[in-house]
Amino acid sequence: MCGIFGYVGSSEKDNPVTICIEGLKNLEYRGYDSAGIAGLINGKILAHKTVGRIQALEDCVSKENLKLQVAIAHTRWATHGKPTKINAHPHFDSEKKIALVHNGIIENFKKIKDRLVKEGVNFESDTDTEVIVHLLSHYYESDMLEALQRTLEDLEGSLAIAIVHKDYPNQIFAAARENPLAIGFHKGTCEAYLSSDPNALRNAELDILYLHNNEIAVIKPDEIDIFNIEGKKQVKETEKLELEEGSATKDGYEHFMLKEIFQQPATIQKAMENRISDAFGTAHFEDLTFSTHELQSVNRILILACGTSLHAGYVAASLLENIARIPTEVEIASEFRYANPIISENTLVIAISQSGETADTIAAVREVKAKGAKIIGVCNVKHSTLTREADSTLFLKAGPEISVCSTKAFTSQLTLLSLFTLFMARLRHLSKEDGQDFVKELRKLPMLVSDILEQSSRIEELGKKYSGFEHFFFLGRRYMYPTSLEAALKLKEISYVNATGYPAGELKHGPIALINENLATIAMCGNKQTFQKLLSNIEEVKARNGPILCFANEEHTQLEEIADDVFYLPEVMDTLACIPYSIAAQLFSYYIAKERGTDIDKPRNLAKSVTVE
Ligand code: AGP
Repeated sequence: MCGIFGYVGSSEKDNPVTICIEGLKNLEYRGYDSAGIAGLINGKILAHKTVGRIQALEDCVSKENLKLQVAIAHTRWATHGKPTKINAHPHFDSEKKIALVHNGIIENFKKIKDRLVKEGVNFESDTDTEVIVHLLSHYYESDMLEALQRTLEDLEGSLAIAIVHKDYPNQIFAAARENPLAIGFHKGTCEAYLSSDPNALRNAELDILYLHNNEIAVIKPDEIDIFNIEGKKQVKETEKLELEEGSATKDGYEHFMLKEIFQQPATIQKAMENRISDAFGTAHFEDLTFSTHELQSVNRILILACGTSLHAGYVAASLLENIARIPTEVEIASEFRYANPIISENTLVIAISQSGETADTIAAVREVKAKGAKIIGVCNVKHSTLTREADSTLFLKAGPEISVCSTKAFTSQLTLLSLFTLFMARLRHLSKEDGQDFVKELRKLPMLVSDILEQSSRIEELGKKYSGFEHFFFLGRRYMYPTSLEAALKLKEISYVNATGYPAGELKHGPIALINENLATIAMCGNKQTFQKLLSNIEEVKARNGPILCFANEEHTQLEEIADDVFYLPEVMDTLACIPYSIAAQLFSYYIAKERGTDIDKPRNLAKSVTVE
């Protein structure tokens, strides 16, 4: 969603405009439709806003040769008001003394706007954000900190804001509630940065601090003061930024998605690295802070996530119940956050989030935290909000995932959660020998996935063949059901076609009414336990002239008599089959999207990290 970047420094050499534009490029992954920058020079506020990519803003500021002594910049993902120049950030008060950028949603903006309009304020945009800057102006007399305190008290909803004010030539003001905002600073060189994501700072020398709920920052080149909403100065811990390894370049691939699909043998291996004990057939996690006794006392697991991470959660729940014999529930975070959860001292919560910034997942985590739950984060981004909310975080170590659609992070989540299941099972009933057998199967995965990737041209042919369909069913049973959900999501989000994942047994309870020659059924046949049952479902589709493509185990050649096409995968145990079958489906979706000419790495309307609810 929206991204904020700011810079204030004493060094003339580095133009804050250049630094902020580069910062916005590091935030592009969040998805956006417009961008803007504002700042102060010689006591004047200057600003530019453009619709479309950051390049348009960069062209505009270089054409104007924009120079600023302090700058704040923003990428907007439209929530209230269309993606137009006037709705782009920054927004200004009526006297153009204040410029403000915002990430979040002001839930009571309409009531505040009506009140301000009655007082004669003229609004230029349709955004919720604009009420903040007019409210600030309304409360400002001579003390910006006080004006911010009063403004925050009036606002309901989530926010991260950055502000420059004409009366404070070399300062940035910032505040945060529920949304991330990091401040990076150099004691030695008198400069300070502000960013929605600390990883966008790309500077391991910086000391980093994070604004917590309703905290206000006054940022100067040589001093940073943090206050709570009552105006009381806060003492903040700082940390050093550990930069993520891995390049943000395509390395010769046409799309980041394809690069990240082909990285999976290595990233699956990486997720297992230094986490397996072959001798004892178990796993271990250096980041896990809970004691063995605490983990042995766990009698219920609750998984919270959204999107692809939710699908990983469904697979993990089956693994934890079937192998570790621990009752496990999965909750959609955007629903769960409004529930009144029942949490006991022996409930373990696992929050899965590639970005660690998904607003719904973070909100759900904060709710269970308030109820005293033990929380493990499964995440791919160091210094993300989830890593600060969870008691322990198990990192995917998959490297930056740039494509909006998640691929390598998903299979790394599955690998890591398989290892965690093994660990929990061996704390309970699982024998060393059974643990060692499971480890052997896990260790086969990178090679098995490589075999599938080597057949990518075959999958490309299938993608081209099926690229004309507008409607798809993905069917599977047991571990192939969440695999079908994930495969359908991939196809939906990058090809913009109607794709639905179903448990195959549900077909006759309604969906079968849709089967015809214009709806392609993709059967995920990677579950041996229920293969015969799935075969019947495939027959039912065939009997109604539905085109069928099967992803199946190489021993199931009888499918060729029924299906229009079969793609064979190597033998794999049911509990781990989601990983290779998902990768085959990722490629299938990729080639359909490529054939349809969509924006594969940045699909329309989507963001890599959904930081608003
Ligand atoms: C995945 O392909 C999607 N882009 C989306 O569903 C994503 O998985 C979801 O927004 C959750 O993101 P997170 O893992 O960063 O929390």
